[in-house]
Amino acid sequence: MQRIALNSNAPIGVFDSGIGGLSILQAIHTELPHENLLYFADQARVPYGPRTLEEVRSFSEDITRYLLSHNAKLIVVACNTASAAALHHLRERFPTVPFVGMEPAIKPAAKASQNGIVGVLATQATFQGELFANLVDRYAQDVEILPRVCRSWVNVVETGNAKTATATQEVRRHINPVLAQGADTLVLGCTHYPFLKDKIQEVAGGKVTIIDPSPAIARQTRRMLAKHALLRKNGAPQIDIITSGTLAQLKASLSGLTLPMLDNNKDFLKVGRRE
Ligand code: DGL
Repeated sequence: MQRIALNSNAPIGVFDSGIGGLSILQAIHTELPHENLLYFADQARVPYGPRTLEEVRSFSEDITRYLLSHNAKLIVVACNTASAAALHHLRERFPTVPFVGMEPAIKPAAKASQNGIVGVLATQATFQGELFANLVDRYAQDVEILPRVCRSWVNVVETGNAKTATATQEVRRHINPVLAQGADTLVLGCTHYPFLKDKIQEVAGGKVTIIDPSPAIARQTRRMLAKHALLRKNGAPQIDIITSGTLAQLKASLSGLTLPMLDNNKDFLKVGRRE
């Protein structure tokens, strides 16, 4: 794919299967308030978690092409599932494009845990990828890892229900077994899950540490942009959130989220559908 010369005004492209990656988008906007951001929510195909790695890889390549055709200067794969399935492939396929990807934060969790029992909350596909096995090999020699697929949570967040009683019930259903096995640290290994963080903390209690990787991903994005001399250092940002689903679906999903970026109809924020 032919790319035109980029400058710092080009947007950072960010994608996820749905609105989960907005937890990352918010962290990027907080860390880099002048950056133009183009977010793609693949809501026509959400969830990715139960799909095969091949399928997720092909969706990720398709979205990357879309973001590049809109001149993205860097791409953040704001989805653990897509990162596990496709990050390696994307870097090979688009060697001139800087990518930032996600991985379950096993390393900081292993450090934070007092009793050496760490619950990792993620999708089925994330646990199947090689990435997860490698992380466990590298960083979890001395800790016990309890993987947990929190199957209903993506749907709870996508349907705008993150703050409802249903969410509390679903959080309990998945967290209680992990707590019963002694976990004192929980890794949010899916970008939808930070939207349930308050509920998780409420159910788990104050003594359990929750590891949310969003701020670290935003810092990594800053480092990558600086390395490529692509940081936008001043000026008002523009944030576009595009869905492959319907606009009604996107608006219903957004209505269930509390994000500073979405407050008071900020005039720099636009939502739309993939053309
Ligand atoms: N938010 C995604 C992740 O980080 C994917 C969730 C899904 O679509 O199953 O894994």
